[in-house]
Amino acid sequence: MKKARGILCIIMTVVMLFEFSSVYFATSESDKALWDEAWVRNADEIEASVTMFVGSDENDRTIAWYSSSDEGYIELKSANGTEKINANARQTPEGDNRLWVTLNDLEEGAYNYRCISGDFKSENYTFTIEEDENSTVLYVSDIHITENSEENENELRDTSYLWNNVLNNAVKTSIYEGNTIDAIVSGGDQATEGLRNEYMGLSAPGFLKSLPLAVSVGNHDRKSVGYKYYTANPNEADQTFKSYIANDYWFRQGDALFLMLDSCNVSMKEHYKFMKDATEQNEDAVWIIAVIHHDLFGGRKPSRDSENEMLQLLWTPFFDEFGVDLCLYGHSHYYSVSNVIYGRETVEITGQNAQLSNPKGTIYVASGSTSRPGSVVDDDGNTPPVGENIGYTRLEENEIIYNLIEITDDTLVLKSYSDENNEAFNRIEITKTTKQGGHNYKNSAWYLKRIAFLVGRIVNIVNNADMYDRYKEQGFDVTLKEGLIGS
Ligand SMILES: [Fe+2]
Repeated sequence: MKKARGILCIIMTVVMLFEFSSVYFATSESDKALWDEAWVRNADEIEASVTMFVGSDENDRTIAWYSSSDEGYIELKSANGTEKINANARQTPEGDNRLWVTLNDLEEGAYNYRCISGDFKSENYTFTIEEDENSTVLYVSDIHITENSEENENELRDTSYLWNNVLNNAVKTSIYEGNTIDAIVSGGDQATEGLRNEYMGLSAPGFLKSLPLAVSVGNHDRKSVGYKYYTANPNEADQTFKSYIANDYWFRQGDALFLMLDSCNVSMKEHYKFMKDATEQNEDAVWIIAVIHHDLFGGRKPSRDSENEMLQLLWTPFFDEFGVDLCLYGHSHYYSVSNVIYGRETVEITGQNAQLSNPKGTIYVASGSTSRPGSVVDDDGNTPPVGENIGYTRLEENEIIYNLIEITDDTLVLKSYSDENNEAFNRIEITKTTKQGGHNYKNSAWYLKRIAFLVGRIVNIVNNADMYDRYKEQGFDVTLKEGLIGS
C-alpha cells in the first residue's frame, strides 16, 4: 500500500511538472531563448513573483505575491471543488503590497490554484499534498541572485536562470531515484544585495510555485530589506533583539523539525528561548535539523577564522543541549562535512560516505554556492586550508552543488550532488534506534551560557547600529531599538 502510494505521488509529480510551461525545463543553450523570452515578458510584472513557502507542516502551504492592490485572493481547486480564500496584505516600502494566503490542513491529493488581485490573474499552478511516511528535502545555499550591473546588464536574468537549472537538475535526480521533493530549504544569501528585484528573480522558476520554499537569512540578504517583505514564514518567534529583517521560525517535514535560525543575529538568549519552545512543541520529532547561514567549521577562509571561532562558541553549546542531529549552513561557498561534534570537539570520525549509528553529537554540513563556487586557489596560489574537525571536503573548480535529504523515522540520509553529472559524490547515513539516539541533552555550563548571552547581545547591538546607518541611508524608516517601522 505504501509503495503504491509512493508510485502514485511520483506519477502526480511528473504530471504536475509536465504541466509547467516548457520554459521551466529550459537547460540547454537553445532552450535558454525560451527563458529569456519569459523573462522579458515578466520583468516588470511584480505579480509574476508568486512563491510557495512552507507552512507549519507538510499539510500546510503559504502562497505569496506582490500586488499593486491591497486586496486579493486565491482560487483553489481540488477534488472537493473550488474555494476562494482571501489574502492577507502588508504594505511594502515600494508603496505596493505583499499578499499572502496560508492554506492549512490540506488533504492528500492534487491541487490547482491561481492568485488574483486587482487586474491581475496569475497562471494556474499545480501542487500535490503527499502523506507519505518518508520525506525528501532539497538543501541548497548561497543562491546569490544578483541585480544587474554595468559589468553585466543581464545579471538578474542570468543568475535566476542558473538557479532554475539547479532546481531542474535536483527535481529530475529526485524523480530518477524514486523520490519526490517535498520542500526546498535554502541556507541564506538568496540575494546578493538584499533587493526586491533579486527576490523576484529568485521566485521566477516555475518550481517555486509548486514546491514549498524555506529560506534563512544570510549576510548578503541583510544588505537591504527585500527579505523581510518577500518572506511569509510559519511559527515565527516574536524576538526583541534580532537582525531587523528576520525572526527565527520552525516547520515540520515528516519526522524532522527544521529550526530556521537567523545567524546574522547572535543574541543567543533569543535563539535559546526559540529553540526551547520549538523543541518542546515538537517532542515527537525524531530529527532536529538546524539551518543557519554562517559556516562554523569548514575553514577555507582564514580571514574569517576568528569570527568562526566566536560563532562556534556562541552556537554549539545550544546545538549540544537540544540534540541537533544536523546543522546545515553555507556562507563560505565551500563544501564540507564535519565529524560528529560535541563540546566543539570531534567525538566520532565521519569521512566520505559515512554511516553512523546513534552519533553522540551534531554533524555540520556546508553546501557550496549554487552560483558562486569558492575558488580552488587563494590569492597566493595555495589551496585554501580546511578547518579542524572536518571529516570530508571537496574542492572542484566552478562546481555547483545541491543536496537531497531523505528522512524516515529511524534513518536520515544526506546525498550531495555535482550538477555536472547529477551523481552523488557523498552520502551520509545516520540511523537512530531511539529518538534520543546518542545525544545526552546535557545543559551547557551556566557560565558558558551567560557568556554566550552577554557577548551575543553586545555583538548584536554593534551589528544593528551598522545596519541602522545602512538602512537609513537607503531611505528606510528605521529606529535603533525596534528596527524597521511597519509590519
Ligand atoms: Fe554567500
